[in-house]
Amino acid sequence: MNVLARLQAAFRSALDGLVDSPSTYLEMIRPSQDPKFGDYQANLAMPLKSVLGGNPRDIAAKIVERLDVSALCDPPEIAGPGFINLRLRDEVIVEMLRTALRDERLGIAPVAEPKTVIVDFSSPNVAKPMHVGHIRSTVIGDSLSRILRFLGHRVITDNHLGDWGTQFGMIIYGFKHLRDESAYAAAPVAELGRLYRQVRAIMDYRAAVRELPKAEAEAKQLAAAAATAAALAAAAQGPEAKKAAGDAKRAARRSEEAAEQLASLREKIAKTEASPAASALAAQHADIERAVLDETAALHAGDAENRRLWEEFLPYCREDIQRIYERLAIRFDEELGESFYHPWLGETVDDLTKRGLVRDSDGAACVFLDGFDSPMIVRKRDGAYLYATTDLATIRYRVSTWNPDLCLYVVDHRQSEHFAKLFAAAKVWGFEKLELRHVSFGTVMGDDGRPFKTRSGDTVGLEGLLDEAVTRARAVVDENLKKNADLEFDETERQRIAETVGIGALKYADLSQNRSSDYVFSYDKMLALKGNTAPYLLYPYARVNGIFARGEVDAEALRRGDRAMAFVAPEERRLALLLLQFENVLLDVTVDWLPNLLAAYLYEVTTAFSQFYERCSVLDAPDETSRTTRLALCDLLRRTVRTGLDLLGIGVVERM
Ligand code: ARG
Repeated sequence: MNVLARLQAAFRSALDGLVDSPSTYLEMIRPSQDPKFGDYQANLAMPLKSVLGGNPRDIAAKIVERLDVSALCDPPEIAGPGFINLRLRDEVIVEMLRTALRDERLGIAPVAEPKTVIVDFSSPNVAKPMHVGHIRSTVIGDSLSRILRFLGHRVITDNHLGDWGTQFGMIIYGFKHLRDESAYAAAPVAELGRLYRQVRAIMDYRAAVRELPKAEAEAKQLAAAAATAAALAAAAQGPEAKKAAGDAKRAARRSEEAAEQLASLREKIAKTEASPAASALAAQHADIERAVLDETAALHAGDAENRRLWEEFLPYCREDIQRIYERLAIRFDEELGESFYHPWLGETVDDLTKRGLVRDSDGAACVFLDGFDSPMIVRKRDGAYLYATTDLATIRYRVSTWNPDLCLYVVDHRQSEHFAKLFAAAKVWGFEKLELRHVSFGTVMGDDGRPFKTRSGDTVGLEGLLDEAVTRARAVVDENLKKNADLEFDETERQRIAETVGIGALKYADLSQNRSSDYVFSYDKMLALKGNTAPYLLYPYARVNGIFARGEVDAEALRRGDRAMAFVAPEERRLALLLLQFENVLLDVTVDWLPNLLAAYLYEVTTAFSQFYERCSVLDAPDETSRTTRLALCDLLRRTVRTGLDLLGIGVVERM
């Protein structure tokens, strides 16, 4: 059992008979921020005031009287308004280090009550190249799955591929009208990608032409409104002035946005019209939008030709994304795309109808849900099923196949409304016991504060992003090796290190952010050797390997954990305490599904290690006990970092 769990058990006994539900108060025992206040601090006397009455210091005294932590701590101290400060005895820390040292799992026991969890993540719409927007779901979902699995849960990862949507209508249309036969024969994936982009470009052009008049009118109107607001602000005086200035600023911003929107439409149009070939294409395919919808509908209705084409294309599309998953070291247990559920969609709507959950609204089948302004449409008037229908069918399939306790959907925050409705619908449909969670996340931004795009305004392809990260990591690796003349690496090894560091840095940059916020993408920042970055975490790992090699340390003997250990410097003790918190951090990650807590922890441990390493010589420690203690800390550090990074889906390099 970890330190915190042992302290909590002791407090539980102390609170038993004093309060009705001790559990809520046990959360208030946390590691102290400052060693002045001991190693752990229990902050429960203040909130207990409303339950027990009296003043918190007396409450704290009463708890301490009933508390038996003598096996773990020095006598507890009461501080300030009623904090209970706990200082662990050194022997206890050493004992726990031994347990961790001996255990492959660093002393972390699997959870007592494992759950079955389905993690639905990555889930790109295939038939178009993966782009930067897919990175977040992919790495966050992968990391949560790894952590849950490590903690002992039964995890099923499912890539809910979009393999049945309009994008197939697009490539089918493209294939029928625009294909280059020999290019397709030579490199089908590339040709399908080209067809997708070409159809997309024509559709975008047509949409832009259609939207232009409205955008022009809007920009004009907002520019006028901004001018008026600016004039009012200039004239306003006294208390009115501040409000008027604010209004003017907002109006200016709106006008600017509209102007940009208009400029981007004009640019799209100009790009096509600048090329006679592209203009001719756009003119020839004037009806493309309806035609694409028709191709999609025909596919869904079982049209033999479209079905055959879909079956021909799908393996190519999968192969294309598989290459990226391989580079990212991402694997799925299941890849049941949307198409898999197609045969059950009618039945799903029938079942909902039978239970009286569906009402007709203007020909569409709708599920009306309490607390929502608009219903969830499950079948359109033309008979087409929707994304939501598929998701309902998916829930039913998952329940009957795996009987999960929990299902996580790692999907962009823009789909919040969809999932809120889906979860509400699942509940009324009868899946009350199944816990459903939308693990949402923000957008990847460029340094201009807008969604990350290429210079020409296109979405950034994921493959190119990986290549660039690796190229830049290679430069960092080469630069670093210049400084360490004693390290010799051949070309293959350099490239291998660059691949690990580059991809690791990319993943870490994402995972170290709180998922709910947007974050700014920067190659320079994520590859920096200092700060909360992957290279910073990778260094000490390699460094400890160096120490063990130089000192010809027998790691196996050390891991028997039977030699004397003791702390001399405060840096040793602090590092030890931090290392012993690993399990708690992993459990914390699974409360609100925040892998960034693990990243922050690894950063903290690594920083504590640097401070320890600066202060304490390891191989030349003053005596055998110190040497053993320090080597043990080094070994636990590298294993904690390796395991922690592995749980983030990031590999380590033995030397760098
Ligand atoms: N394919 C969808 C998209 O790209 C994401 C699917 C997420 N998973 C789900 N069960 N809805 O937007």
